[in-house]
Amino acid sequence: MSRRIIPVADVSAMPDIAGAPLTPRGTLVDALVRPLRDLRISVTDRCNFRCVYCMPRAVFGKDYSFLPHGALLTFEEIERAARLFVAHGVDKIRLTGGEPLLRKDIERLVERLATLTTPDGRSLDLTLTTNGSLLARKAQSLKNAGLTRVTVSLDALDNALFKRMNDADFAPSAVLDGIAAAQAAGLAPVKINMVVKHGTNDAEIVPMARHFKGSGTVLRFIEYMDVGTSNGWNMTEVLPSADVVARIAEHFPLVPLEAHTPSETAQRWGYADGTGEIGVISSVTRAFCGTCTRARLSTEGKLYLCLFASAGHDLRALLRSGATDDEIATAIGRIWQAREDRYSQLRGSAAADTASNGLARVEMSYIGG
Ligand code: GTP
Ligand code: 5AD
Ligand code: SF4
Ligand code: SF4
Repeated sequence: MSRRIIPVADVSAMPDIAGAPLTPRGTLVDALVRPLRDLRISVTDRCNFRCVYCMPRAVFGKDYSFLPHGALLTFEEIERAARLFVAHGVDKIRLTGGEPLLRKDIERLVERLATLTTPDGRSLDLTLTTNGSLLARKAQSLKNAGLTRVTVSLDALDNALFKRMNDADFAPSAVLDGIAAAQAAGLAPVKINMVVKHGTNDAEIVPMARHFKGSGTVLRFIEYMDVGTSNGWNMTEVLPSADVVARIAEHFPLVPLEAHTPSETAQRWGYADGTGEIGVISSVTRAFCGTCTRARLSTEGKLYLCLFASAGHDLRALLRSGATDDEIATAIGRIWQAREDRYSQLRGSAAADTASNGLARVEMSYIGG
């Protein structure tokens, strides 16, 4: 069956650039007084994994039509947009996918983004989320290009279970090799993201903690979320982070740690014996929308204000329209100032349905984690 589910029906036209200019001052806030600090850029909608919770093969099969090359933002366009976001206050950029290391010459994009500096002269926190399958080959060249650090997804150490979850025959050893290469290249701290699906991989929680304890990496456990429309999400498959922490603490005592920044997604816990830390990301049981400073740029240049958004703002049309930098910065500024998104906080309520306007949500493989 050939079925194209993204991009979803999109209600937003090209952003409005009429009226008074909105000059970037590095201090933009949205309607809920949340500053713009993070930009997550999806560089491809393709992936060599078919994780059951993200790109189930029944939907993303061989007939699935991914975006044509011409639809993708070019590296020049991404750099230009990123520069304007940085002028507005962004100091952290994350490259995502799909699988970002599948984008040809990704190191060239990293090189370009690594030259950007904040209005007060700081370099960016420039990072990337990857499934790790190509990392052993690319870690050093990414570091040389200016990448600061990397986050690697790994859902299980058990060979058969991991292969079932990625549904593409990748062994955990390939990902572990990628993690080791990232550490050797100095892409530190390497973070490891494990999506926990109750009844699928929760038996891997303690083995994963044991494996990475004392390794210098930061393992984070993510509550399985209802992103997109393809994964058939069900609340019974969510294991609350409190249970994750309790299970680990039975084996390795934990102490709570302070957040590094107010907008951090993870709550941090340290091993009481000083051998490192873990994190839990609890979008379902403890929403963190109140401090959400994240904007997302999709592969084809739509600006999304929430991971659970149904519609994006067509920045690509603006970038290709001959608009000036000031005009584009004005459009970005106005869009952010009007932002009221807080899906996780509203999840399940009538307000959440109103906010989505009856439209399907975008897929994580299209918008990036
Ligand atoms: P660090 O700075 O490395 O801690 O990054 P991060 O936690 O912002 O980013 P990462 O990409 O590692 O995010 C981890 C996971 O948290 C993602 O894969 C998502 O599952 C979830 N996540 C990240 N940002 C958001 C968000 O804005 N909303 C929700 N609901 N979940 C998010
Ligand atoms: N719930 C939670 N996390 C998810 N990811 C992808 N889909 C989901 C989901 N439904 C995570 C991946 C990866 C990042 C890109 O997003 O595991 O760490
Ligand atoms: Fe690919 Fe990451 Fe989605 Fe898995 S979670 S299918 S690795 S984009
Ligand atoms: Fe931010 Fe939306 Fe996630 Fe809330 S649900 S933290 S607003 S991206």
